[in-house]
Parts: sequence; structure tokens; C-alpha cells
Amino acid sequence: MKNQPKLYFITGNRHKFAEVSELFAQEDLNYELRQKDLNPTEIQADTLEEVARFKLSSVKSKLDVSYFIEDAGFFVDIPLKGFPGVYSSYVFKTLGNEGILSLIKNFDDTKAHFSSVIALYYKPSEQIYLFKGRVDGKVSSKIKGNRGFGYDPIFISDIQPDKTFAELSKLEKNHISHRGIALRKLIEFLKKLN
Ligand code: IMP
Repeated sequence: MKNQPKLYFITGNRHKFAEVSELFAQEDLNYELRQKDLNPTEIQADTLEEVARFKLSSVKSKLDVSYFIEDAGFFVDIPLKGFPGVYSSYVFKTLGNEGILSLIKNFDDTKAHFSSVIALYYKPSEQIYLFKGRVDGKVSSKIKGNRGFGYDPIFISDIQPDKTFAELSKLEKNHISHRGIALRKLIEFLKKLN
């Protein structure tokens, strides 16, 4: 549609953009969603919120419109006490899903969650807003499914306990996922401003 203000999702992850644009498309929002990969600076910090705020401000000088970034983490609460958490990206590249499964292979009971933080820079007010989402579940004993990305093949949510996230469609994943929850909060916020 013409004359809609642009809203940029700053990400190099095409899977994330596909999830976000599918959810946006279902909503009657007066924004044109665009993807831009500006390679925001990733700091090593204790919380996703700190990482998200830093990422957001690291690209501010390159944009003249409202934009958001998203930072997610996979936390194996039992038995890994939240690992990999804020190290999820590095651990995925080094150990991968097989590595996580081998760390927990002697444990019958696991608990895990995904968390997502969306940080929005809203140009008209020049303010930063954070939106969070979380989904709880466990680690699958096997790698299963070929949809999604990252840790999806080893995560089973409490809401859909018969399938890993990698066995769900984008629509099904968005419905229950950490990112879907955070995004719906962002969308509600944007709707109130319109
Ligand atoms: P980041 O948000 O891109 O920093 O993600 C950190 C790590 O978690 C990366 O290795 C991602 O692949 C993984 N990750 C982020 N979101 C998801 C998700 O929705 N499903 C599975 N893995 C994810």
C-alpha cells in the first residue's frame, strides 16, 4: 500500500524475517515491513535485554526511520542451569544440536525455554521500547524435523508436546513461540499508536 510508513526489521536471519513477516501480514497494521541486514554489534552480556539494547543503538546512525531488532536465546534450565542462554549463537556454531544432546544424554528429565527480546526504536518519539516473549518446554531426546532453524529440532514446547519446533509450520510456531509472543506485543503497541 502507498504512503505507509516503513518499519525496518534489522536482521540477517531470513528465517526470523519469514516468521515476523508472516505474523505482520495477518495484522491490519499501517506499516510497510522491510528487512535490512546492518550487522549490529553483538556484545557479550548477562541478559538478552542488554544485548538487544546494545544491538539497537549500534545501528542508530544508519537509519532515519523506526526500526527494531530481536535477540533470542535457548536456555536448558535442567540440567544445564540455563546454558547456552546468552551464548546461544556461539554454542550453536560450535557444539550445535548434537553437542547439546550429548551434554544431557544421561538425564531423563530436562527443562528448557526460548526467550525473545524485541527492541524497537520508535522514530516519532525517539524512544526505545522492549517487548519480551518466552516459551517453556524440554529438550527432545533426538533431533527431529526439518523446518525452522537453530535449536528448533531439539525443542519441544509444553503447549505442543508431540512435536519439536522444527516439525511445526511457521504459523504453528508463531502461535506459541517466544518470538510470536514478543511480536504480538510489539504489534499491539504499534496499533495503539495508529
Ligand atoms: P540470535 O537471536 O540470532 O542471537 O540467536 C541466538 C541463537 O539462538 C542462534 O544460534 C539462533 O539460531 C538460535 N535461535 C534464535 N531464535 C531461535 C528460534 O526461534 N528457534 C531456534 N533457534 C533459535
